[in-house]
Amino acid sequence: MNHEDFLEAYLKDRQKIVEEALERYLPDEDSVPEELHTAAHYSVFAGGKRIRPILCLAAAEACGADMAPAMPAACALELIHTYSLIHDDLPAMDNDDVRRGKATSHKVFGEALAILAGDALLTEAFVLLSRVEKVRLPAERRLAVIQEIASAAGIAGMVGGQALDIRAEKIPPDAAGLTEIHRRKTGALIVASVRTGAILAGAGEAKLQALTQYADHIGMAFQIADDILNVEGDSRLMGKKTGSDAAHGKVTYPSLLGMDAAKARLAEHVEAAVAALAAFDARALPLRMIARYIMERKS
Ligand code: IPE
Ligand code: IPE
Ligand code: MG
Ligand code: MG
Repeated sequence: MNHEDFLEAYLKDRQKIVEEALERYLPDEDSVPEELHTAAHYSVFAGGKRIRPILCLAAAEACGADMAPAMPAACALELIHTYSLIHDDLPAMDNDDVRRGKATSHKVFGEALAILAGDALLTEAFVLLSRVEKVRLPAERRLAVIQEIASAAGIAGMVGGQALDIRAEKIPPDAAGLTEIHRRKTGALIVASVRTGAILAGAGEAKLQALTQYADHIGMAFQIADDILNVEGDSRLMGKKTGSDAAHGKVTYPSLLGMDAAKARLAEHVEAAVAALAAFDARALPLRMIARYIMERKS
């Protein structure tokens, strides 16, 4: 099997495992209020690459642990990510109609339910995280993970990054400002995904630091690739609109540096991510492959 086929099979297999776990963890769709549960399910199961939970599981395995104890936290990360997409698409924010190849939540269920579905997914994520004790892991690891994910999702991370992103529409940022936005709105949750897997696996400080470096680079790479795909990508493959950054006059890596320099920056981050894993053995192969996938992805 060549490299691409192996990666494709790996991602497909992991997506399936994560989806089965999400089915188990999310409350039933026919619970009251049905319309809220239906809206939450609609967005969670609309598709999506599941890259954050897959990174969490792969990081646990790279540290020599089984993936099963990390599954609730991996799914919590996907619920938080899905909530962030529902709110990001709202008319008050990016006002987008298509996400994961389907009509956005507010288009189908109306704004009020879309807001509440997002709120519900964020909160359910922490219900799930506090159930990590179902798998017997030391309390301090569980607490460290809750703190890790809460701060990555909150003002210091994703939500703060989204506010900076809105500010940037009025006051265009310079390169350093743009990096700060990317690091917070997208990088923070990706870093938390990798670190969560490592912390639950009981990784020592050296491994945790190396994985943090890795994740910092792939987090930046992920958002630069997203900006490039917004210009050059195929909206059908991506399941969301392209061309919107330019239409909204948004400052992105391609608009700030030019497309070639943006691609060079992306490649540098991927190389640096792989280099950060130098001390890891073959169990880190999926993490190495995912770094390259982030650069080559079409969706
Ligand atoms: C899209 O994230 C939003 C960004 C943070 C760039 P993904 O590209 O991971 O979206 P899904 O989960 O596959 O839909
Ligand atoms: C989405 O950022 C990031 C979060 C939801 C935190 P964008 O607005 O740039 O991403 P897309 O293009 O809508 O997925
Ligand atoms: Mg946005
Ligand atoms: Mg958006």
